[in-house]
Formats: sequence, C-alpha cells, structure tokens
Amino acid sequence: MTIESKAFPRSHYCGELRPEQAGQAVQLCGWVQRSRNLGGLIFVWLRDKTGLVQLVFDETICGPALFALGESLRGEYVLSAEGDVSLRAPEAVNDKLPTGQIEVFVKRAALLNSSQTPPIYIDEDHPDENEALRLKYRYLELRKPSVQAMLRLRSKLTQTLRSYMDSQNFIEVETPILTKSTPEGARDYLVPSRVHPGEFYALPQSPQIYKQLLMLGGCDRYFQLARCFRDEDSRADRQPEFTQCDLEMSFVEPRDVQTVVEGAFQAVFRAVKGSEIKLPLERITWRQAMDDYGSDKPDRRFGLKLQDASGWAKGCGFSVFEGAPQLRGINAKGCAGRLSRKEIDALGEFAKTFKAKGLAWMSFGPDGVRSPFLKFLSDEKAAELKALMNAEEGDILFFVADQESVVLQTLGQLRLEIGRRLKLIDLEKDDLFWVTEFPLLEWSEEDQRFLAMHHPFTSPMDEDLPLVQADPGSVRAKAYDLVLNGLEMGSGSIRIHNPEVQEEMFNMIGLPHDLAWERFGFLLEAFRYGVPPHGGFAFGIDRLMMALTHAQSLRDVLAFPKASNGACLMMETPSSVQEEQLRALHIAPARE
Ligand code: AMO
Ligand code: AMP
Repeated sequence: MTIESKAFPRSHYCGELRPEQAGQAVQLCGWVQRSRNLGGLIFVWLRDKTGLVQLVFDETICGPALFALGESLRGEYVLSAEGDVSLRAPEAVNDKLPTGQIEVFVKRAALLNSSQTPPIYIDEDHPDENEALRLKYRYLELRKPSVQAMLRLRSKLTQTLRSYMDSQNFIEVETPILTKSTPEGARDYLVPSRVHPGEFYALPQSPQIYKQLLMLGGCDRYFQLARCFRDEDSRADRQPEFTQCDLEMSFVEPRDVQTVVEGAFQAVFRAVKGSEIKLPLERITWRQAMDDYGSDKPDRRFGLKLQDASGWAKGCGFSVFEGAPQLRGINAKGCAGRLSRKEIDALGEFAKTFKAKGLAWMSFGPDGVRSPFLKFLSDEKAAELKALMNAEEGDILFFVADQESVVLQTLGQLRLEIGRRLKLIDLEKDDLFWVTEFPLLEWSEEDQRFLAMHHPFTSPMDEDLPLVQADPGSVRAKAYDLVLNGLEMGSGSIRIHNPEVQEEMFNMIGLPHDLAWERFGFLLEAFRYGVPPHGGFAFGIDRLMMALTHAQSLRDVLAFPKASNGACLMMETPSSVQEEQLRALHIAPARE
C-alpha cells in the first residue's frame, strides 16, 4: 500500500523464486520486461540477471495509489517491490518461465527510475535485429539473459583458469601495455610519446618477449590473462583487442607445456560445460593435417578427407591433370544426389576464389558416371580413379590440379564448404587435438623470402638442424597448435635459447644483424646472461568462449566488442582529438 523511492533490501533474485517460497513475503529489484493491464489487475514481468518473475498489482490488495504506480510502468522502468509469493492456479501456470508456477502479489513498491522506450528489443525473440544498432546500445543488449549467461560463463572460465594455473605453481605476472613492437607479425597499434618527440610505444601483440624475459629472470612458471592488440582486419574469429591465457615455462620440452595446457582445457570443460576431455589429447603432425584436410586447423567432425591422385594423373589423358605439379581430390560420400548442377558450378566458382584454375568433378549416379573430363580418360584409367578414390554409387568426387599450396587450400576450404552446406558437421562433438611439427619457415611469394611461421624465437627440431643451411623450407619447428572443432585455439613453441641459433634464424628470415639488434637487441643481449631453455603457449580466451558457446562470432563473447571495421559504435571510437593534444604529442593534424 505504500509507494517509496528507495530500493528495499533484496531478499531474493527474480529468477530464483519457486513454489517453495509460496506464502513468503519477498523483496525484489529489477527492470520491467513488460506489463499487461487487465482492468483491476496488472501483470508485470520483473527482470534481473537471474530471469523473470510475474508481479501482480491487484487493486483490491494493493490499493489505488500503488495500482496507479502499476499502471504507469513501462518497459525498462526500474522497480523495487515487496509482495507475497503465491502459487498460480493450474491453468495460469507458464511452462516457459522457470518461475512460471508462482507469482508475487505486490504490497509495496518503489519506482526507482523511468526509461525511454529502448531502441532494441531486450529479449531473445529478435535474433536478426540490426547488429549496428545492437552494438551502439550494447549496454542494453547486456541485459539480455543470453548475454548475461555469456558473461557469467566467461567469468567462470577465467576463474577456473586462474585457480588451475595456481594449482600448477604458475604465478600471474602483469606485463606492460606501453611497450615495443613484438614479433607476432600483425600491424602494431602505436602510442605517441609526449616526452620523447617523434617516438612511439607499441601496444603488445602478445607478451611474448616479456614472458621470455621472465624465464630469464628466474620465474620458472609464468601465466597471465593478457590483453593483446593487433591492428588487423576483424573477422568472425578475430578482434583488434583480445585476451590470451599466456604461459611460459623453463627447462621444458613440448610435452611438458602441452600437458599443462591439456589440464587447463580439461578443468575448463569440467567447470564450464560439465563435460570430460580424455587426456592425453591426440597429436597429429602438421604434414598429416595438411595431407588429410588441407588445413593446419582441421575440422575433423566430418569425413571428406583429401586424397592424393598425383601418381594416377601421370598419363591419364586429361592435359589439365597431367600438366600440374599435383592432383588431389575429395570424395563427398553419398553427396552426389544432394548437389544440383547449379550448386556444383557454384562450388567451382568458390574454388576459384582460392586461386584454383577450376574444379573438376565426377559423380556416380544411378544412371552412370558423369564428369566433364570423363571423355579424356580411357575406361581403364576411369576405373583406376574410381578405385583409388574409393568411390561407389551416390558419391561425387572433386579434384584440383595445381601447385601444392593451391591444391591444399582450395580442397581444404571446399571440404568445409560442402560440410557446411550439406550439414555434415556433428556440432555436438568436441574435437580437441594437437597439431605438431609445424614448418619453421614459410615462403612468402610477396616478399620473396622466408618468414617465421610462428615467430622468430621458435626453435627448430634438433633432428632437422642439419637441414638449416641446405633446405631451410623443410626444417620443422618445436611448435604446436591446439585445435578445437576447426578453430585454432592456441599456439606455442619451445624457444631458441642459443644466441648463435637465434642469429641464424634472423638470417634465414632476412633480418640482417643490425636490424635484428635494433628491434630485439635488448633480448639478444639478455640471452647472453644464462638464459634457461624455455617454451610456452598462448590460447585465446575469446576463441575458447566462442567454441564453448557455439557462437558465430567473437563479438558475441565480449562485453564490449568492436564492429567489423574496428570501431566501437557505442563509445564512438576511434574519434578525433583536440589539435592541442596532437601538438603536445608532436603530431601534425591530418590535412583534408
Ligand atoms: P598467436 O599469435 O598464435 O601466438 O596467438 C595465440 C592465440 O591467440 C588468439 N588470437 C586471437 N584471438 C582473437 N582475435 C585475434 N585477433 C587473435 N589473434 C590471436 C588465438 C591464437 O591461437 N606469443 C605467441 C604464443 C606463444 O608462442 O607462446 C602468440 O601470441 O586463439
Ligand atoms: P576445361 O577443359 O578447361 O573446360 O576444363 C574441364 C574441367 O576441368 C572443368 O570442370 C574445369 O573446372 C576443370 N578444371 C580446369 N582447370 C582445373 C584445375 N587446375 N584443377 C581442377 N579442375 C580444373
């Protein structure tokens, strides 16, 4: 019967109320989800982080003044209410609400704030709502139950990681954000120095160098939930700033690092998903991953493995196949009838986006074999190919003939595309495994030189050291990635701790002595003072969240994500600054 303006001390959260509380007086706080006025009765859904509960303003119980307050309530008004929990009549039970068996008859209420009509829906019924609008009003979107659940999950994830790493005797060390360019190879975000005209800090792409220096500093086991910054174009699984669980260990081999990381994933899956991961995880080599799936982060939740038909291609009669360095294919088992001619042509166009010159196919239908290149083959060669590809009626084969990198990438992507289109991927499965023995270097056509595949501090495999001079491209590294459901979760390696090997590595990637010293001199010098053998790993918390929640984009698992163009639509960043600020930083204003 009373209207007040201060919140009551809360006795329960809205979403917690159950029939057990029937008969109790409760105090609740929250936002109005919606209200329905049925004359002498007003039903109001009150929402807080735990969910919804139905309040009832019954004029005969609450009196005219409180009823009038009830009538004034609109979406997102902020309310504190006291009332009695009452069991609903059976026909009034709402199965869709966890609190749907009860309702609360309001006896006191405090209207704490009103609200304008929100520009976005605060419910789960409008998933297609304009993303730009949702990002601009992200603070309203945060009120959605699904987003609240995501934030709770993320917090659980980070708490689990911290306590696991602590249990493994790792210490968390914070490393600087204002730092120097690091070696991950993306573009740096730069911060101009006021005190040192014309000089800049870089935001860290990762704490890579600091963590190696922590090993030099005797820390032995370090970890950090580290913010990283990379000025690269956003994609579904990339944001300009993101968080890594970053770790480094001294006196270790790859297995030691992998064992710690596996334990961390096991702890996270237990705590966050309630599921078990069997350890040790499977390991496949990079070569195997590329040969079987055309990818170093294969999605193994469905088949369609790549097969090498290069041997068969010799003298096959089809010049496109004969003239190419490699021919590989995939057998889309049982998919012949599921792809129309138009769809097959669309896959051909898709293949061309990966620099393939074409996509050859051969389908085995009930009315015989169809293929644009069948006419070039003898019956014998056609039968050989069928046997090689393990094809039977209902299958369709796809082939790409080209140099290895084009063949593997095209077929790897084609495999995923067919998997997605035909819904072949078992989304219920979690497939977590290691890819090991990455190449140390990769050839860059653009730069006409080798680049470090992971980063230039990655150690070659001992058995491949003799190849460093003779055949650098074939040297394997003590580098390993962790892959979950076709997403790269993390990367790590054993580092070079021998200054001569480090210099040689810089040489191989065309970083001359002077430039190497200019960029990483402090590290090279530090390594002269008794650096222990060490190695580590970093995995993306955002990517892990994405996999755990089956999110389509990293934007869905961050409290305040950036749009695909790197802008924050809510804060309107980046934004211009006063000319004075620029002058203080010794920067000339941009001219139109
Ligand atoms: P790397 O560069 O492979 O390795 O990064 C490790 C992991 O960080 C995550 N990640 C990202 N997540 C979201 N948005 C991005 N833009 C982004 N970039 C990377 C991924 C990736 O697997 N210092 C080394 C690790 C080491 O050697 O110990 C490093 O940063 O999940
Ligand atoms: P063409 O003889 O050029 O008409 O090609 C016959 C078929 O081979 C077409 O389906 C092409 O898409 C395909 N094709 C052409 N070049 C390649 C290639 N490099 N790899 C695989 N298929 C190809």
